[in-house]
Amino acid sequence: MDQETFSAVDAFIGETLTPPDEALQAALDAAQAAGLPQIQVSPPQGILLELLARLQGASTVLEFGTLGGYSTILLARALPEDGRLITLEADAEYAEVARGSIERAGLGNVVDIRVGPALETLSVLGEEGAGPFDLTFIDADKVNTPNYFSWALDHSRPGSLIVADNVVRDGSLADAASADPTTKAQRRFHEMLAAEPRVRATTIQTVGAKGYDGFTIALVGEG
Ligand code: SAH
Ligand code: DHB
Ligand code: MG
Repeated sequence: MDQETFSAVDAFIGETLTPPDEALQAALDAAQAAGLPQIQVSPPQGILLELLARLQGASTVLEFGTLGGYSTILLARALPEDGRLITLEADAEYAEVARGSIERAGLGNVVDIRVGPALETLSVLGEEGAGPFDLTFIDADKVNTPNYFSWALDHSRPGSLIVADNVVRDGSLADAASADPTTKAQRRFHEMLAAEPRVRATTIQTVGAKGYDGFTIALVGEG
């Protein structure tokens, strides 16, 4: 098994299960034209996010890391008309690209993009009394995953779902001796989950067009 096979299978899944999608394609094209890094979730992963939001019956979503709005559009589509998705992006140029794509997708009224380092924006959201969020997707700077998780947990309700991307990173998650701050953060995130009576969580390893990685899903309970 190699990367070529993983990509070929993702391509097959995309061709068979993913109908042509004008708004999503336009979002990818706009991101590429603007020179954004192509690190959005893969199409199958994006649809998983949409399915989770639908299964969840979510009407409030918090996203860390907007990039060009690809995952944002999929999550926002799962929401009812009066739903609301707040997405946090540090880079003002990325946020502008995302804003255009989200508006073209007809989701401008549902999505609220907040520009700035997420930890700073969280203070503002806290003051605004934002939340509770039915679903949180953590996909920004990976060293802060534990901090974003803590905040998300405190702004959840019993039944909320918290999803974190890129937790496995080529298997580095299993390396207890790693000095890499990102890896250490993902390991700490898992230790937090294990010690947290309010959540039941699991991590699923994935292969695909984006290589070998994985995501965590945590269901918030009464604790
Ligand atoms: N969720 C997107 C991909 C996000 S990539 C998708 O799947 O379509 C990660 C994003 O997090 C990048 O756009 C990056 O600029 C942003 N980011 C990095 N550090 C951040 C921070 N401190 N606060 C908010 N966003 C940050
Ligand atoms: C990368 C991948 C991601 O899914 C992400 O959210 C951020 C960065 C990467 O491959 O560098
Ligand atoms: Mg990611």
